[in-house]
Amino acid sequence: MANVAVIGAQWGDEGKGKVVDWLASRAEIVVRFQGGHNAGHTLVVGDKTYKLSLLPSGIVRGKLGVIGNGVVLDPDALLGEIAKVREQGLEVGPHNLRIADTVPLILPLHPALDQARERARGGDKIGTTGRGIGPAYEDKVGRRAIRLCDLAEPETLSAKLDELLLHHNALLTGLGAPLFDKAPLLDKLLALAPLLLPYAEPVWERLDAARKEGRRILFEGAQAVMLDVDHGTYPYVTSSNTVAGNAAAGSGVGPDAIGLVLGIAKAYATRVGSGPFPSELHDAIGERLGERGREFGTVTGRKRRCGWFDAAMVRQAVKLGGVQGLVLTKLDVLDGLEELKICVGYRVDGQEMNRLPPGMKAQAAAEPIYEVMEGWAGSTMGARSYAELPAQAVKYVRRIEELVEAPVMMLSTSPDRDDTIALRDPFAG
Ligand code: IMP
Repeated sequence: MANVAVIGAQWGDEGKGKVVDWLASRAEIVVRFQGGHNAGHTLVVGDKTYKLSLLPSGIVRGKLGVIGNGVVLDPDALLGEIAKVREQGLEVGPHNLRIADTVPLILPLHPALDQARERARGGDKIGTTGRGIGPAYEDKVGRRAIRLCDLAEPETLSAKLDELLLHHNALLTGLGAPLFDKAPLLDKLLALAPLLLPYAEPVWERLDAARKEGRRILFEGAQAVMLDVDHGTYPYVTSSNTVAGNAAAGSGVGPDAIGLVLGIAKAYATRVGSGPFPSELHDAIGERLGERGREFGTVTGRKRRCGWFDAAMVRQAVKLGGVQGLVLTKLDVLDGLEELKICVGYRVDGQEMNRLPPGMKAQAAAEPIYEVMEGWAGSTMGARSYAELPAQAVKYVRRIEELVEAPVMMLSTSPDRDDTIALRDPFAG
């Protein structure tokens, strides 16, 4: 039995929540392997809407949720989210949520640094979610992070806090931001220990055993390839590797465990935060996409920038992310548009190219080269088979497949989980 990994193929917010939920209902274990509570997945199940940031989506479907070592975990955010979904009637506890004992923790000093740095950048902001994601990953790589397992060792915790504060308070001093004292942080972590440690375990062992038993594992990516710290539009990226390869390192399994890689892409494009966006629209069509697509960030409520589908970029994401099949979402948002454009490449300083250049200046200067297609008059909303789609909509999907060099394996035609056209069971191998 194959496993499946799902990643974003644009700049995030591709509608992963619904797709992951659909897949989770067919999986037995759902694993988050990177990112943190900067992610936002909205799941609509019957008359209930769940907004998850940190919890693996499978929790909603009664599946085992695993938070891998590649995630950065904010304990307050986790406990808050657990309390919220419990209020909505879900059961969450150590029986259905396991967390890697090596996961690095986000402490209050991380969002403080994230926000102080963004303020200091002035007009050159990255546009982060302000949740401390970047600083937490920096501490992990800098070998200063407090990890979940440290909560079981009060002396280790105390010594590590000294080192962490030395580093952070020096930075915060330079930025003119308030400093942190050790005692309240230590008290807070010691108080969190009994709440969090029951969830902690070497999840790699559980995943290894699950593989041997042939259980279906879904690896749930957050953010997207163009926000990948290595491959995205650097420095306007998040601080983790969002490509499917990181599902292995971020959860402690081998690369052969990842299985089929699905990339999710909207039938148009959106981005929150700063950074290059060659096919961005600053006109009435962009506004219309934003309104019809309800393009407001799940986490920060920020209005998303909207534009035409960028096939050159998605093609790049397909190659970088190891995407074998595409899931196309929100096709219905394009219903009724007379004309559609697809970005097929860029013009940079008079030179044509079919991929984004790496340099900041060149990326900012990249002008889209468009292919124009006729739109469709009918509705694609709620379609559950290709036969129900207007012929021109099918043509649009087929053209995207050609341009991005990956087959469309699933189409999502409304927020409802059942309004999905699936061409095959991704877990079938
Ligand atoms: P950070 O991950 O908070 O450091 O933010 C870095 C960049 O990634 C910013 O442009 C954010 O808007 C973007 N970002 C982070 N998480 C998401 C997400 O889940 N969806 C879309 N954009 C995101």
